[in-house]
Amino acid sequence: MSNSNYAQRRERVAAALGPEGLAVIRTAPEQPRNRDSDFLYRHDSYFHYLTGFGEPNATLVITGDGRSTLFCAPKDLEREIWDGYRLGPEAAPAALGIDAAHSAGELDSLMPKLLENRQAVWYPFAIQAGLEVRVAGWLAAVRSRVRYGAICPEEQRDLCAVLDEMRLVKDADEQAVMRRAAQISARGHVRAMKLAARMLRAGQDAREYHLDAELLHEFRLGGSEYPAYSSIVAAGANACVLHYRAGSTRLRDGELVLIDAGCELEGYASDITRTFPANGRFSGPQRALYDLVAASQEAAVAATRAGARFTDPHDATVKVLAQGMLDVGLLDRNQVGGVDDVIEKRAYFQFYMHRTGHWLGMDVHDCGSYVEPSQVGEVSERKDPLSGEIIKNRPSRILRPGMVLTIEPGIYVRPAPGVPEPFHNIGIRIEDDAIVTESGCELISRGVPVKADEIEALMRD
Ligand code: GLY
Ligand code: MN
Ligand code: MN
Repeated sequence: MSNSNYAQRRERVAAALGPEGLAVIRTAPEQPRNRDSDFLYRHDSYFHYLTGFGEPNATLVITGDGRSTLFCAPKDLEREIWDGYRLGPEAAPAALGIDAAHSAGELDSLMPKLLENRQAVWYPFAIQAGLEVRVAGWLAAVRSRVRYGAICPEEQRDLCAVLDEMRLVKDADEQAVMRRAAQISARGHVRAMKLAARMLRAGQDAREYHLDAELLHEFRLGGSEYPAYSSIVAAGANACVLHYRAGSTRLRDGELVLIDAGCELEGYASDITRTFPANGRFSGPQRALYDLVAASQEAAVAATRAGARFTDPHDATVKVLAQGMLDVGLLDRNQVGGVDDVIEKRAYFQFYMHRTGHWLGMDVHDCGSYVEPSQVGEVSERKDPLSGEIIKNRPSRILRPGMVLTIEPGIYVRPAPGVPEPFHNIGIRIEDDAIVTESGCELISRGVPVKADEIEALMRD
């Protein structure tokens, strides 16, 4: 991404604010881990989207006339010796293409002046902890000058409403980064599969953390800064825990391994899940459920295109899974009825309890409304068959070219009365990243195979 990308985004924000508006966006604070050690720093996505600036302790102000002002950490040789290089406010305008910069320490004294005589102050609501209080303090300072003729902003507006819509549709540069991120992640998955097969063949004590190390190695080798989220490497029954992390469980001959892992590259996430036999060969029951999940994913992919609704891939998935659960005997026809009953009563929910996807972008669960903005007023109600709750529905978002979402169906079989024993503790998810196009979608994460035969072939080599 170049400075002109960021400048164009700031111009779009300025236009949305109106001439008398002002927007303020802070980056993320550093997070202490213990004593004087911090967690690895990660910038705030909104802030980075508008600046490309990765240092902590920074605030961006955009005004309706199109001017951008940055507050950032001042140069400080002693701190830089310990913590590293700082750009500093003197160099920031030229380096980042912004209009003015000040030391972060001047924020509280300068913000009241910047806010004076404006109509509205915009900032991300309920995202950046403490920002509301800071804004209130600045407004109080403006108000104290009202008797000298100053005008205090009357409106506080949620900047997320503007930025979320912008971030939801990825431009060509963003798509290019996301393709590269997905390619690196796919290589990590291939590498992890191969290591599992190799270690099991050699009779070695293979653990979840061994595969986690392979993923990280490939991510960093590809230039990724860090994983986009905590990698899930789940051996055997652990795959039925949806938010499991890579632990130390042994990979056992005859069991599956589920890996949900993706790297972050230049601020953009990838998010891939593959499920494979630890030893490289699916058993009969594993293969039956695997092929079912793969078929449901194909149906979801076919339903993903511009003009379709966000929920269409989910509905397509559920249709295939519901029929398949009856066919393989996970659900008993005599108890639940036919496929329409399974869908109507949500009987599939016992084995498939999450949605088929989410927006993907700078954040792994990216921002953006899932409701079609032009239809927010069209509310319908239905009774949930499982909880009995009344659910309010609004029309789901219409997909547009450049939106990026995951397609990630699964089946998770916890042992329970009536559930056929051969399927117990099998957990399968297949997740790919898709860029919506006019005629369909581009799967950017298929550098690692999905078909069972291709996975077996890869693990044999
Ligand atoms: N890895 C998080 C998700 O798949 O949604
Ligand atoms: Mn996902
Ligand atoms: Mn995932």
